[in-house]
Amino acid sequence: AEVKIAVLVGSLRKGSHNKALAHALEKLAAGKARFEYVQIGDLPLYDQDFDKDYPAQGVRLKQQIRDADAVLFVTPEYNRSIPGVLKNTIDLGSRPYGDSAFAGKPAAVVGASIGVIGTALAQQHLRNVLAYLDMPVLGQPEVFLHFKDGLIDEAGNIANEGTQKFLQGFIDRFLAWIATHGSQH
Ligand code: FNR
Repeated sequence: AEVKIAVLVGSLRKGSHNKALAHALEKLAAGKARFEYVQIGDLPLYDQDFDKDYPAQGVRLKQQIRDADAVLFVTPEYNRSIPGVLKNTIDLGSRPYGDSAFAGKPAAVVGASIGVIGTALAQQHLRNVLAYLDMPVLGQPEVFLHFKDGLIDEAGNIANEGTQKFLQGFIDRFLAWIATHGSQH
């Protein structure tokens, strides 16, 4: 069966470069993996009182993660870290204590930024969080995309051939990673 990847994009805006990147990666994975975009914009701000009676959006989020074979994080960098919406999603999906939806799920991290460091610092923060959540995270290749006009064409494909090859390599490595580290839980 086709591999199912839950995709968490850490930007809510319509014109998000990271959303565009996620869709371009989806095209490169066509026929090999199915991308399930997880809705994160309507999630309540995590509150530890939820643990007694989890909100429906939190239950939905955790089910979507559990239904997937792996999780792909596509993150912008906000103030040298990950956006609050993404952290909130992770917090909500990881609780109540002992019932995290993320534990053991293979994961990968990518990101695009208009700044030259291409989300490197945000990704480093995120990797720290994912280590704590006991997710086996693909180490290489790292994808720090410096987003420039024309990187993704009007059809939603990566325009530059070298970048496309690089991202194809990333997808193939991630799929191999999922095959190796999947079904642990
Ligand atoms: C940014 N941006 C940014 N870029 C970066 O490379 N490093 C950073 O630390 C920050 N910090 C930051 C904070 C906040 C609050 C905003 C709104 C933006 C710029 C950011 O890379 C740019 O807005 C991207 O376009 C955001 O990603 P999406 O929405 O296009 O996916």
